[in-house]
Amino acid sequence: MRLDKFIAQTTDLSRALVKLALRNKRVMVNGEQIKDAGLHISPCDTVQLDGATLKPLGPRYFMLHKPVGYVSATVDSDHPTVLDLLDEPNKQTLHIAGRLDIDTTGLVLITDDGQWSHRVTAPRRECLKTYYVTLATALAGDAEDKLQAGLLLSSEKSLTRPATLERLPANQVRLTISEGKYHQVKRMFAALDNRVIQLHRERIGDITLDDSLAAGEYRPLTEAEINSIR
Ligand code: URA
Repeated sequence: MRLDKFIAQTTDLSRALVKLALRNKRVMVNGEQIKDAGLHISPCDTVQLDGATLKPLGPRYFMLHKPVGYVSATVDSDHPTVLDLLDEPNKQTLHIAGRLDIDTTGLVLITDDGQWSHRVTAPRRECLKTYYVTLATALAGDAEDKLQAGLLLSSEKSLTRPATLERLPANQVRLTISEGKYHQVKRMFAALDNRVIQLHRERIGDITLDDSLAAGEYRPLTEAEINSIR
């Protein structure tokens, strides 16, 4: 890889600022000052900028506690995006594995590994997602049966896959589903003649939102969490 590309990828410097850094003698390769932006470097070379060694970016995986008001998009002209909450270089290579609505809170997975995120989102993988839901009114007694049998959502041709429901006090429920259609949970409760007033995603597959993350905070996934998505 070209030296200037490597530096741009591992820092947040534009190519123009990388060239300036090279001209200003801020870059060393294997202990030698280098000004040649096109120098070919390999993984065993050590590149330093202002004395700090730059590490090649491997695949990256994060969990974020999404607050209300942020959109699950990489760019948006009207609202802040969940990527705005990340303090990471080269954010343009990251994407979201399973979106949440602007008013939904909770677990969002962010990565630059397309195969991994496909395993989270591809319908045939049936990756389970658990939501903590606050409803407008008490849920009807036959909701479990209807969720098990499948609901026909507006403008869909097939029934929803069987979903599991845990009833909690005060019109709250925990719903686990294995698909992720547009506004799926809100539409499911609408089909049960109810209305979602608060929605929070707790879990995706075996990855549970870390209790220690306040809304807006994030952390890298552990190896075990990454490998749990197969
Ligand atoms: N289902 C919804 O309706 N909204 C979300 O944000 C996630 C699932």
